[in-house]
Amino acid sequence: MPREKIIIDTDPGQDDALAILLALASPDELEVLGITAVAGNAPLAYTQVNSRKICELAGRHDVKVYAGADRPLVRELHTAPEVHGSTGLNGPVLPEPTMPLQEEHAVDFILRMLAEHPPGTVTLVPVGPLTNIAKAFMRDPGAAARVKRIVLMGGASSEGGNSTPTAEFNIFVDPHAAEIVFRSGAELVMFPLDVTHQVLTTERRMDRIRAIGTPVAEASYQMLDYYRQYDQKKYGTDGGPLHDPCTIAWLLNPALFRGRRCNVEIEVDSPLCTGQTVVDRWNVTKRPINTLYMQWADSDGFFDLLTERLARL
Ligand code: RIB
Ligand code: CA
Repeated sequence: MPREKIIIDTDPGQDDALAILLALASPDELEVLGITAVAGNAPLAYTQVNSRKICELAGRHDVKVYAGADRPLVRELHTAPEVHGSTGLNGPVLPEPTMPLQEEHAVDFILRMLAEHPPGTVTLVPVGPLTNIAKAFMRDPGAAARVKRIVLMGGASSEGGNSTPTAEFNIFVDPHAAEIVFRSGAELVMFPLDVTHQVLTTERRMDRIRAIGTPVAEASYQMLDYYRQYDQKKYGTDGGPLHDPCTIAWLLNPALFRGRRCNVEIEVDSPLCTGQTVVDRWNVTKRPINTLYMQWADSDGFFDLLTERLARL
């Protein structure tokens, strides 16, 4: 089975960090062509540094990290320090990165990878606001047709929003970018809150991660322990949802998730619902079926995979 070539577009973010670690722990299945940072959970100045800190935590000083958009296409930037902390990666004390940030802009890198690799061989894995992806498609309208698929974390329907009653953070931050991506014609595999809220960092699962006993496991535990405080209080649950690694876990084992193919569009201009992902489950609009919309997760199977892979680093 050939390795899946992926670009992770990210706004670390403790859950982004676990997605990156899971990918880097899986070199037999995934070839990480590069990591592109975007403003979201924290300003770009933090997310590009955090991306490099995570690669060095994994011992992968060779991974190329690129800085992308420092703000959404139209709206002002909304960050989430109340969830992720002022640095975006509060929890463990990780050393300042020694690996360089690449000179090339993230959008140029994405377009170059799509041009240099055969059509349908590069998968984009955005787990933050979709600004970099949208800018790539705006710059080169033919780029979307060269993408193998876009496996993204974002959106919500039955679960409701986490930034407004209807909008999930990644889409809420840049709904205009999301609209461009969802109308691009690229094959979308979407992990919304409807499914990521099934994947909770419970005490038992956190203890299993800590019991691995390695520096990576300890740092992961400390990241997740910080990260789960906000959601545990908000939702009254044992643990918080571990959103972003669902994308990587699906690439490693699709059987861990189930969804349905349907149309998804983005509300970009509404007093109440800006950033809502409008999911046409029953195809009542007859709009193009553009998305595999994930609705169910084998959460125990997910954490078995995550724990097993973290132990490899
Ligand atoms: O709503 C959850 C998403 O927003 C995750 O990607 C998290 O990292 C934040 O970016
Ligand atoms: Ca994220």
